[in-house]
Amino acid sequence: MKTQRVLTGITTSGTPHLGNYVGAIRPTVRASRLASVESFYFLADYHALIKVAEPARVQRSTLEIAATWLACGLDPEQVTFYRQSDVPEIPELTWLLTCVAGKGMLNRAHAYKASVDKNTAAGTDPDAGVSAGLFMYPVLMAADILMFNAHQVPVGRDQVQHIEMARDIAASFNHLYGEHFTLPEAAIEDHVATLPGLDGRKMSKSYDNTIPLFVPREQLRKLIQGIVTDSRPPGAPKDTAGSALFQLYQAFASAEETTALTQAYASGIGWGDAKQQLFERLDLELAPMRAVYEQLIQDPARIERTLKRGAEKARDIATPFTARLRHAVGLRALDSAAAPQPVAKAARSLLPSVKQYREADGRFYFKLVDGAGQTVVQSQGFDSPREAADTVKQLKSQGAAALPALAAQVSGMASPEAVSAALAAWADAA
Ligand code: TRP
Repeated sequence: MKTQRVLTGITTSGTPHLGNYVGAIRPTVRASRLASVESFYFLADYHALIKVAEPARVQRSTLEIAATWLACGLDPEQVTFYRQSDVPEIPELTWLLTCVAGKGMLNRAHAYKASVDKNTAAGTDPDAGVSAGLFMYPVLMAADILMFNAHQVPVGRDQVQHIEMARDIAASFNHLYGEHFTLPEAAIEDHVATLPGLDGRKMSKSYDNTIPLFVPREQLRKLIQGIVTDSRPPGAPKDTAGSALFQLYQAFASAEETTALTQAYASGIGWGDAKQQLFERLDLELAPMRAVYEQLIQDPARIERTLKRGAEKARDIATPFTARLRHAVGLRALDSAAAPQPVAKAARSLLPSVKQYREADGRFYFKLVDGAGQTVVQSQGFDSPREAADTVKQLKSQGAAALPALAAQVSGMASPEAVSAALAAWADAA
């Protein structure tokens, strides 16, 4: 019996590299083979448009990422594998969610805030060069996740805030329209170390230090020869700590192989030999998949068919679910019976409440949610539940007057008047 739904997407804006493989593709393909999970994997091509205005690159990246996933062993019969833009219900849901998402919450999204901070530092208009697409990114991502009621969303640390926002948006919608959405959780690949790139920094397209996953064998050898090392000569013992070469090896090798290389480092293996070992080890794992990848890339029509079949499966869920959501919000045939008014609507919509919770980062948070389900005050993470509770107490006794002194711990998510009003109503009710 499949009980857990797992869903993740990759933005189709580039060519997959070893870091994507080790950090995202390999673990998700492995997880998809577990009998107890129902998996949804998709190509986030609507998301790509936020970053890339080159149509040919979006198309090529979609082909490459689809071929990569399949070559790495994703079985489209066992999972639901699709392209985001083949499911028109997703942008429709994005609008329904947009109407319950707090703008204040979106103002705080890391990616948007980083652009604003950069502009502010440069003395330009805070929103210079920022598209509404970048601003709305978290809502589109929430629609991806909520459409399939995913429980677990495997992502990197940089995406955790987006999952929290999806939860927030889902809770607001559920509060207003009934229990339609599962609240998703981020599943962070904690044990997977981030892979270093050619220069020793994190492997990332933005540092231009990547090793593309499926470059031809000889090119792979050349790239590996270019990994930075120190200048110790052959015969001199080498340090494994901080060695990019060693970390790359470790991400592919067994425990025994890693121990053997540790010993070789201690007894002074030359960098040339160490690079040769790394190359052979990588190629051993990659070569069979590379052969499949090259075949797939030659046959885009076949991948297109696979994706279209995947979209049918996805829409078997998305189409009826969207119909239900449309009905729930009042987008209904005029001759259909109106749903009965929710009971106790008045009482429910008046009382704000504080919710305390723990995040995947292990820290303790709280938020004040108003009667309409909107987050009005949001805390930062606290080390202990006691610190969170003390801050809640302070807010309760002093109301909005406590906010300036607590600026580092909590922030208002709405206008100052709305925050004051919600704090006052909550203190009265509690
Ligand atoms: N934003 C994600 C990234 O850049 C990609 C993505 C889009 C995604 N929608 C998603 C990931 C839904 C998980 C779930 O990495």
